[in-house]
Amino acid sequence: MNPPALTGREVLLVVGGGIAAFKSALVARELQRRGASLETVLTTAGQRFITGVTFAGITGRAPRVDLWDPAYPGELHIALTAKADLVLVVPATADLLARMAHGLADDLATTCLLAARGPVVVAPAMHPRMWEHPATQANIAALRARGVAVVGPVVGALASGESGVGRMAEPEEIVDAAARALTPQDLAGCRVVVSAGGTHEAIDPVRFVGNRSSGRMGYAIAARAHARGAAVVLVSGPSALADPSGVTVLRVRSAREMRDAVLVAAGSADLVVMAAAVADYRPADVSVEKIKKTDGELVLRMVKNPDILAELGAARRPDGPMLVGFALETSDLVAHAREKLARKGCDLVVANLATDGFEGDDNRVTLVSPSAITPLELMGKSAVADHVLDRFSAWRSR
Ligand code: CTP
Repeated sequence: MNPPALTGREVLLVVGGGIAAFKSALVARELQRRGASLETVLTTAGQRFITGVTFAGITGRAPRVDLWDPAYPGELHIALTAKADLVLVVPATADLLARMAHGLADDLATTCLLAARGPVVVAPAMHPRMWEHPATQANIAALRARGVAVVGPVVGALASGESGVGRMAEPEEIVDAAARALTPQDLAGCRVVVSAGGTHEAIDPVRFVGNRSSGRMGYAIAARAHARGAAVVLVSGPSALADPSGVTVLRVRSAREMRDAVLVAAGSADLVVMAAAVADYRPADVSVEKIKKTDGELVLRMVKNPDILAELGAARRPDGPMLVGFALETSDLVAHAREKLARKGCDLVVANLATDGFEGDDNRVTLVSPSAITPLELMGKSAVADHVLDRFSAWRSR
């Protein structure tokens, strides 16, 4: 699930001198995996923890280390920052943060940070006593007030063997923050609720009726809504996917648990997206004991589950949220989608054929609203998510 924000973007990675510098190589690799091009600047202290060869190998470009580089005739800090869409400092040491906060610029890293005009993201890492020091806290506050995005530090085991706030955020989270810094925050202030995955309907204490939904589509919508600035609650049925960073995840099992969680969260939402494959039926009786094998057949009687989307649609007030449903079909895609749109009282149905996107990373969907039918190309689920969120953006300004 790759947020598309980094494709074709130029990132200037500044590596400070702390033990977490070894993780900056993983940050470089993840940035590249998501489509960014990199220039790397190592501070003098940074070079004590990790060598330029590592970054040259990952990025294909020799890292820069010297403001006075005799091989570069112009103003290196101006050239590097002019082409950068984003500057990312990993790790940001207490000293680098202090220099940034006070506008000091006496080496390549700090001149770049003073010359940078685009978004700047810092990933602090240091001993908790240094992080908690009023000087560092004042510097961080000054940087935040100037629009610098700060990711971490987090609580965890430190190189010294102690534990506390000071450990650098994980590379994936740092790159998510970089992607977010390059994404227009058009959903800032919005509250979004997304359901995802299938549901498990218990038969006995160890067995259930379920379906093959992976949850990928709903997780992609939650991640993109968060990246675009929304406050997101993800109500997830059983899924192997990791929680998207920055999103409040409520894990549920059955359709009835999902209903309760979605209805509470939807009370204050601006957008509700029901991407979950909710089981329509559940076993009428859940055996308290594990059901034992017999010679005969096992017959399960199933009863109807609540239809969460239809319930939201029926209860909707004029100032209520936009409601988006999904329709997974095996035939007559548009006809079924239009019928669900009307029956469940929602604003948009995202329809797809079971052959086009049930389990993979890509999906081919048709957006069906009361006024238009819009077939989209086959694309990544993050890109589908952005199309759905674009519809919400248009709905808000209607
Ligand atoms: N949905 C729901 N609660 C249910 C069943 C479905 O909220 N008990 C939502 C799904 O999350 C999806 C939409 O309704 O957004 C359509 O789901 P689908 O299973 O395709 O619709 P059904 O009404 O169950 O129709 P059918 O199974 O007959 O195709």
